[in-house]
Amino acid sequence: MDFELKTLDLAGAAAEKCDALIVVVPEGAKLGKDPLSSLLAHALKAGDFEPKAGKLLQSYRTAGIAAPRLVLAGAGEGAATEVRSAVLAAANAVKAGPVKRVLVCLAAPVRDDAVRACVLAAADASYVYTTTKPKAEGRRIQRLVVGVSDAAAARSAFAEAVAAVRGIETAKEWGNRPPNHATPTHLGQAAKALAKGAIKCQVLGPAEVARLGMGAFMAVAQGSHEALRFIVLRYDGAPKTQAPTVLVGKGITFDTGGISIKPAGEMDEMKFDMCGAASVLGVFRALAELKPSVNVVGLIPSCENMPDGRAVKPGDVVTSMSGQTIEILNTDAEGRLILCDALTYAERFKPAAVIDIATLTGACVIALGGVRSGMFSPDDALAGALQAAGDQAQDLCWRMPLDAEYAEGLKTHFADVANVAGRAGGAITAAKFLQRFSQAYPWAHLDIAGTAWKSGGAKGATGRPVGLLLRYLAAQSVAAPAAKPVRSTRRKSA
Ligand code: BES
Ligand code: MN
Ligand code: ZN
Repeated sequence: MDFELKTLDLAGAAAEKCDALIVVVPEGAKLGKDPLSSLLAHALKAGDFEPKAGKLLQSYRTAGIAAPRLVLAGAGEGAATEVRSAVLAAANAVKAGPVKRVLVCLAAPVRDDAVRACVLAAADASYVYTTTKPKAEGRRIQRLVVGVSDAAAARSAFAEAVAAVRGIETAKEWGNRPPNHATPTHLGQAAKALAKGAIKCQVLGPAEVARLGMGAFMAVAQGSHEALRFIVLRYDGAPKTQAPTVLVGKGITFDTGGISIKPAGEMDEMKFDMCGAASVLGVFRALAELKPSVNVVGLIPSCENMPDGRAVKPGDVVTSMSGQTIEILNTDAEGRLILCDALTYAERFKPAAVIDIATLTGACVIALGGVRSGMFSPDDALAGALQAAGDQAQDLCWRMPLDAEYAEGLKTHFADVANVAGRAGGAITAAKFLQRFSQAYPWAHLDIAGTAWKSGGAKGATGRPVGLLLRYLAAQSVAAPAAKPVRSTRRKSA
């Protein structure tokens, strides 16, 4: 899909050649004397159109309008969520027809979040997965022109939104691929393919991971015939003196639960258990496009979680890279096991911040549903920045608690820590487990179990939280914070 930004008023939009014209109309939109303005004025007066969010009025071959298909889409007060639902509804209404070129015209003063919402919603509505459907037709809408009153004022928000679309669609693609088409090896190849220009990539295999002493990660991988991969991506957009942000993505390419096996119903959805990893790949794809002045490291521990004669058993005790021993009481709590070793590995980058992204717990789905990702951080500044980035990108998260008492249930007689506590507060106890391995730097954890994909008829990856992460990084590139001192927690292994 191609994108273009243009300065257009309603008169200009009416004259523009395209297959469909979508006019986003907030309450109190300024109208002129052109054909589009008078049509709009008539429709409003007659009560055939209301500028409420999600309300549509469609017409065909309208006098004075160059585009054969016209959709007026109400956007309420013009807030980003309203613009988003207006464009989603309008794009869904036209996408079934022979529509390749769409013009979305914003009949409102330029606002960064509204411009972003336009681009992201149009891309979201027109996305089609085709990789394992060779006969599928694919995406209809090939070109999106966004018309605003002042293109110069919208330029940077537009560029960020286009980069976000590239990243989100990369994340959707890898999330959606069937688990036999998205193995750890495939993810490693996808990461390698991103390594151009400012992006470098290194992919470690079982021998190198063993040498690093990643005993927790290896324990999860040992029940699978697919070889594990540990992916290290780097984007160097700022001077070397600037400490990087490290993103760690959970890359379980299929989660059966292992010996603590999951029930059969909807188990196919556990192909999405690598959506954290997919979001890291997506962010790097977006960085390649946007080229912000930040340094970013991406870490992806990737393997399958399978039951097998060699699989790890409930009760097994393993030694993590940090030196801490872990009693694996439930093999289905595997995400935290692969992440904890990646969090220890992250120390070597002396990071400004580490953010892990994981489809970690069913409990987070119960707590927050599919609207907001769970966000955990002991660092108020980092938590505030992530919350703000989510709000601005319309990729929402919600801060969850990390009180010390939540870690009580992780105590065991047989190791430094157990990998599960009771059922109560399951998303928080998982975060408390990870917190033990992230003491050397400012850290945040995003539990995307509820937000990374949709179930049912709309089954598919959402590409979240690429939008949030890109907004966070773009904001960092403006702020350019100084590196915080790092102290190592790495213990010598026995
Ligand atoms: N990948 C799952 C989490 C998950 C489950 C995400 C359902 C989305 C929907 C994770 O590995 C897992 O199995 N977690 C367990 C943890 C439990 C054993 C403490 C869970 O949530 O049930
Ligand atoms: Mn699991
Ligand atoms: Zn899992």
